Amino acid sequence: MDGLARLEYRGYDSAGIAVLSDGRLQTEKRAGKLANLRAALDHNAPAADGIGIGHTRWATHGPPTDVNAHPHVDHDNRVAVIHNGIIENFAALRLELEERGCKFTSETDTEVTAHLLAAELHDRGDNDLAAALRSVCRRLEGAFTLVAMFAEEPDLVVAARRNSPLVVGRGEGENFLASDVAAFIAHTRDAVELGQDQVVELRADSVTITDYDGNPAEVREYHVDWDASAAEKGGYEYFMLKEIVEQPRAVADTLLGRVGVDGTLTLDEMRLAPSELRDVEKIVIIAAGTSFHAGMIAKYAIEHWCRVPCEVEVASEFRYRDPILNRQTLVIAISQSGESMDTLMAVRYAREQRARVLAICNVNGSTIPRESDGVLYTHAGPEVGVAATKTFLTQLVACYLVGLYLAQVRTVKFGDEINAVIAQLANMPEQVENVLATIDPVRQLARSLSDASTVLFLGRHVGYPVALEGALKLKELAYMHAEAFAAGELKHGPIALIEDGLPVVVVVPSREGRGVLHDKIVSNIQEIRARGARTIVIAEEGDTAVHPFADELIEIPAVPTLLQPIISTIPLQVFACELALAKGNDVDQPRNLAKSVTVE
Ligand code: F6R
Repeated sequence: MDGLARLEYRGYDSAGIAVLSDGRLQTEKRAGKLANLRAALDHNAPAADGIGIGHTRWATHGPPTDVNAHPHVDHDNRVAVIHNGIIENFAALRLELEERGCKFTSETDTEVTAHLLAAELHDRGDNDLAAALRSVCRRLEGAFTLVAMFAEEPDLVVAARRNSPLVVGRGEGENFLASDVAAFIAHTRDAVELGQDQVVELRADSVTITDYDGNPAEVREYHVDWDASAAEKGGYEYFMLKEIVEQPRAVADTLLGRVGVDGTLTLDEMRLAPSELRDVEKIVIIAAGTSFHAGMIAKYAIEHWCRVPCEVEVASEFRYRDPILNRQTLVIAISQSGESMDTLMAVRYAREQRARVLAICNVNGSTIPRESDGVLYTHAGPEVGVAATKTFLTQLVACYLVGLYLAQVRTVKFGDEINAVIAQLANMPEQVENVLATIDPVRQLARSLSDASTVLFLGRHVGYPVALEGALKLKELAYMHAEAFAAGELKHGPIALIEDGLPVVVVVPSREGRGVLHDKIVSNIQEIRARGARTIVIAEEGDTAVHPFADELIEIPAVPTLLQPIISTIPLQVFACELALAKGNDVDQPRNLAKSVTVE
């Protein structure tokens, strides 16, 4: 149950467990959050002296009811199965099984696997659960991690994966399986990552990993560099609150060891040689959600510093539009979890087209970095709150590092210019700290707006993706209508939305350089204010030009425009979090969401 609690961020529509005790499978499952299952178990705990499996669900097929919760069992209650992902050919398999006399109790795609396993075991007649699972997997289409137990094998858990994540935790006299190391980190930090299409047989004292044909498989063992305390709330009511406060450290850790005193950058794990980077003719960034916003910001920085054309696209659209890629294309896949199915599929597509793929990722051992040519890890530590906060800031840092490294390698700008930016980047943890030290008024402001029905966000240049991120945070946490626009687009339509008292958050670019962008947005603020908007202005300290037009002013330190998103995002995170809390929402587990979206 503690392991499940650590995985609950991945899905919280229902939860269930199955344990094998005295040769009997006992299953308990409940719709809703894990607390419901805990309460049920308090009344009726099965004797748990053997092995067990458990699951928290993010519903795909069938609503979140007790019946649809996992584990699922065959009709003789001999086999129990849990599953992440989607079995795409489940309808045909279900029909086949029904013709064979199987009675289904749920609406899930998962249940077919329990019946298929039982049928396979019956046909084989040898009780070889791993062999039966291999045969079943060969028949399945789609994405899955499957974990199964069999009443005749009281010491054995078997599992298989295709596209969805699965890691093994190796303990002493005990072993674990989970979709994320967080589940077993309290017991062991020694992990084994499972590759694509592999099956694992897990006993207390042995771990055997094979491919779907039963051949021994190659695996990578690694040691997790954080411990259980990093995934605790540490005195905060919500993980999200803690993770926002951890941002100076997360940003510093992502820079650590990568920036030399003389400005040289060391990005060893990138595994892309300078000669390969010099040959790059186009960069394509693919990502989803918040990671996509990091990618949008990266485009501005990379094109400016490196003078290489850079496109950015949501991963779910990418491979369906026949994009133009070749050996000279560098694809950068940004994913906190390293498991988002849309991004993973885009990575595979890009590699098929012979593009080089660099992953920017926070989770060691996850699928996307494993399948990429190189990786740059963000060192944000575990992020449990479903809404991305500290991982977004560290993604920005990683993107800037890649951009600056490329600029150094390709020498299109004067070294001094790039070194100056690197020095400013190295100073960002302190600036993040400064923003957090003065954030309280944002909390009060957010609480005063808890009755608003809509909030608009405006930005220009890198402030535009920041505005998009602010709107996304507000939607996912406060369940409010929020939209972001490039401020210059306003007059092309959205300005019609402005009415008396409508809160509009404006991210004002720094006054650096000629300040052209800055002056244009000051005009935009006046335009919306003249039409009744309540302007909430995020601007750098001492920017007196905005003062007359700001109904509410949020000041941030003055930093170079391209780096400003690292700090201008923070008030928006706090704004959304506080507004959601004022509405009584659970900011760690917002409705309908899951942190790692492992289905397409
Ligand atoms: C928003 C959020 C999501 C993720 C998106 C991509 O707060 O967390 O939008 O950013 O699902 O996830 P990763 O980065 O794990 O690929």
